[in-house]
Amino acid sequence: MLAKAFSAAVIGVNPTTIEIEVDVAAGLPNFTVVGLPDAAVQESRDRVRAAIKNSGFQFPASRITVNLAPADVRKEGSSFDLPIALALLAAQGHFPLEALQTVFIAGELALDGTVRPVSSAINIALAALQAKREMVLLPPQNAGEAAVLEGLTVFAPSSLLEAVQHLSGVNKLEVSVAQPLEIDADSLLNLADIKAQAQAKRALEIAVAGHHNLLLIGPPGSGKTMLARRAIGLCPPLSNDEALSVTRIHSAAGRMPKGLLRTAPFRAPHHTISDAGLIGGGSIPRPGEVSLAHHGILFLDEFPEFSRDALEVLRQPLEDREITISRARASVTFPAAFQLIAAMNPSPSGDWRDTSDPAQRRYLAKISGPLLDRIDLVVNVQKLSPEELTRTAEAEQTSVVRERVWAARATMQSRQSMANAFLHGAKLRKHAHLEVAPENFIRAAAKQLGLSGRGYDRVLRVARTIADLAGVEQIAEAHLAEAVSYRQRDW
Ligand SMILES: Nc1ncnc2c1ncn2[C@@H]1O[C@H](COP(=O)(O)OP(=O)(O)OP(=O)(O)O)[C@@H](O)[C@H]1O
Ligand SMILES: [Mg+2]
Repeated sequence: MLAKAFSAAVIGVNPTTIEIEVDVAAGLPNFTVVGLPDAAVQESRDRVRAAIKNSGFQFPASRITVNLAPADVRKEGSSFDLPIALALLAAQGHFPLEALQTVFIAGELALDGTVRPVSSAINIALAALQAKREMVLLPPQNAGEAAVLEGLTVFAPSSLLEAVQHLSGVNKLEVSVAQPLEIDADSLLNLADIKAQAQAKRALEIAVAGHHNLLLIGPPGSGKTMLARRAIGLCPPLSNDEALSVTRIHSAAGRMPKGLLRTAPFRAPHHTISDAGLIGGGSIPRPGEVSLAHHGILFLDEFPEFSRDALEVLRQPLEDREITISRARASVTFPAAFQLIAAMNPSPSGDWRDTSDPAQRRYLAKISGPLLDRIDLVVNVQKLSPEELTRTAEAEQTSVVRERVWAARATMQSRQSMANAFLHGAKLRKHAHLEVAPENFIRAAAKQLGLSGRGYDRVLRVARTIADLAGVEQIAEAHLAEAVSYRQRDW
């Protein structure tokens, strides 16, 4: 008897439909899986056998062949357990074969038949939609993420037996719905907690409004970490498309989002993180922090403490907004349009020293020229005097600054459908067009500062954002002058 089930293999975040054919034939008892499966899929045989037996079914003493097609797509991981087991049981007549025709199935099986979560459930569910199927069977922990997709009904059996009973119509499962998500505690931190530091706050506002990269540099205790953590409260909510692409990445990383991720991600990995953790990698390439921060903020505190390799690899996603992870058998590309906010002390001892001090020079040199060139705004955060720290002047609330940031971002969206940081080439020239006087000003400034072509474009984008925050269409000299001031460094 031959049965067929459907699932998907996911490379990066992109799914391919996989047909699972199971043939149960007379002959010596045997159980083979063919169609380029990796070790985890081979082990699936043992889990499927135990799960079937322990769910109260008989495991057939027959020649069982499982074919995963197409054969040239690599299948990794354990998510084929459930569809293989169900196709096997359908082939034995435990429920009608047709019940498997309208549904995509994924799930790992425990030996006792419990359904365990998988990664990339939302991406697998998308394959179902692309194949014009309206139903998916997924592990309960993965149901919320798939349930955000319109036009798809999600059922979440917690065991193999529940899945069989659902498909045979004996005991129908309830339809799963997406869960409301908890609020990130950092998004509730208030900018008003930070005294003084007007310039740093202004830079933060510009950076978030235009999705520009920001480096905060200053002595210990000057408030750099405090400032960076309050950036997330300023971020505009994600659009539908952005939310979907962020959710797909977090799902591929095995983070099992319970619903659609609607707020901009804020990722703050520690500097001891592995290169693979930061950039992405592993034998089954998984997204790293740069991709988990897609459409949001990647905060790298103690910036020079990250490994030199990790910092240099950051250059590609900072430029291309995506990261390619090359493996012997395949290379995988993940989106990585993050906004970098980095913080650092100017020297190993913490404080600014003489610029000719060799220890300080070595420390600052850990951030290479090409990497610095990709940072739009560099701000010196000064240490506050005890008087400044104890002064009770009213500082602006996050809610007030957020309104300006959101308004500026809305201007960008309606003008060019993207944040200013993403403007390139002809689009940048068009939307950041300069009149003669400002053009002359920026040329002279570029010459004086020795700006690279990239640096010039970055100044132009920041000036565009400053003008947008001011609510004016034409970029003026004052906007350019402020943008240039964030590229001047003391070293
Ligand atoms: N502008 C400020 N207003 C109010 N409190 C501040 C300010 N700056 C610093 N502080 C206080 O100092 C503490 C340390 O600040 P924070 O951790 O942000 O410093 P940092 O610049 O990141 O230092 P480090 O270089 O050591 O990481 C804060 O928890 C806060 O109590
Ligand atoms: Mg700090």
